[in-house]
Amino acid sequence: MPRTAYVNGAYVPLRDAAVSIEDRGLLFADAVYEVWSVFGGQLADLDGHLNRLERSLRELKMAMPMPRASLLTVLNEVVRRNRILEGMVYLQVSRGAAPRDHVFPVDVKPGVIITARPVDREAAALKAEHGIKAMSAPDIRWGRCDIKTTGLLPNVLAKQAAKEQGAGEVIFVDADGFVTEGGSTNVYMVGDDGVIRTRSLNANILAGVTRLNLLSVIAESGLDIREEAFTLEDAKKAREVFISAATSLVMPIVAIDGQPIGNGAPGLVATALREAYIDRAHRTAGV
Ligand SMILES: Cc1ncc(COP(=O)(O)O)c(C=O)c1O
Repeated sequence: MPRTAYVNGAYVPLRDAAVSIEDRGLLFADAVYEVWSVFGGQLADLDGHLNRLERSLRELKMAMPMPRASLLTVLNEVVRRNRILEGMVYLQVSRGAAPRDHVFPVDVKPGVIITARPVDREAAALKAEHGIKAMSAPDIRWGRCDIKTTGLLPNVLAKQAAKEQGAGEVIFVDADGFVTEGGSTNVYMVGDDGVIRTRSLNANILAGVTRLNLLSVIAESGLDIREEAFTLEDAKKAREVFISAATSLVMPIVAIDGQPIGNGAPGLVATALREAYIDRAHRTAGV
C-alpha cells in the first residue's frame, strides 16, 4: 500500500512529499521531533510525547505549529490513512523556511512533517528474546541533550560505529566514566543488590517518555529503582543491563564492548519489565 505523509497542511503520497531546500530543519537542524509507538491503531503515551514536544519547542523559542487538539487529529489521520495497527509515527517541527541566516527569521510558518510506518512486533519480540549487543563511546554531544532536536550527528556516527562492530546500540559515557544514555535510548543496570539504576535527568540526557512510564511500571512491580549515576565498568559487571525507547520499548543488552552481561542472555528483570510495559500499552490502547 502506498504510504501517505503529512507535509505543511496537506496529506500527500510519501514519494511526492517534499519540503523547501531553505527549510531550517535541513540547513541548521533547527527542528525538534517526536516518535510515538502505535498499538492497536492508538498512539501510545500520547500526552507524554506532546508534553515533551511543547517543552522542546519552548526551549528553542518556537511556538506549537497548531493547537494540541488539531495536532492530535492530524497524527491520528496519518495513522488511519496508512492503516497502521502496530507501528510508529514520526513528527518533525522546524522553525520554517527562509533565506539562510543563522538568526531567527521573522514571520515564517513552522514546517511540519509527519510519517508513519508499520512495525513487525513478532520480529521485535524475537529480537528481545535474544537481546542486543552494545558498544560504548565517549559522549561528545552538546550540552542540551534534554531538547529532542534533529541535530543527531554524534548519535548517527556512534550508532554506525556500533553497527560496524556488530552491536545494535551505543552506550554514551561521560568524561568521568559514567553512563549517560544510549544513542537513541535510556540505559538501566541491575546490580548485585537487585537495585535498578538509571541516570537522573539533570545529567544532560533526554527525558525519555518510555523511561518516565517505565519508572512507574517498576515502582508498581515493587522493584527498587534509583536515579543514580553508574560507571561503564559497573554496567559491564552488572547482573543485567537494558534500554528503553518508544521504538524498542524495553530491550535487554547482553554484551557491552564484547563483554557478556551476566550470563550473556536477557535477564529476568528486563524480560518481565518488557512484558509489563507492553501489557500496559495494550491496556491503555484498549486492545
Ligand atoms: C538520545 C535519546 N535518549 C532517549 C530516548 C528515548 O526516548 P523515548 O522513550 O521518549 O522514546 C531517545 C529516543 O529517541 C533518544 O533519542
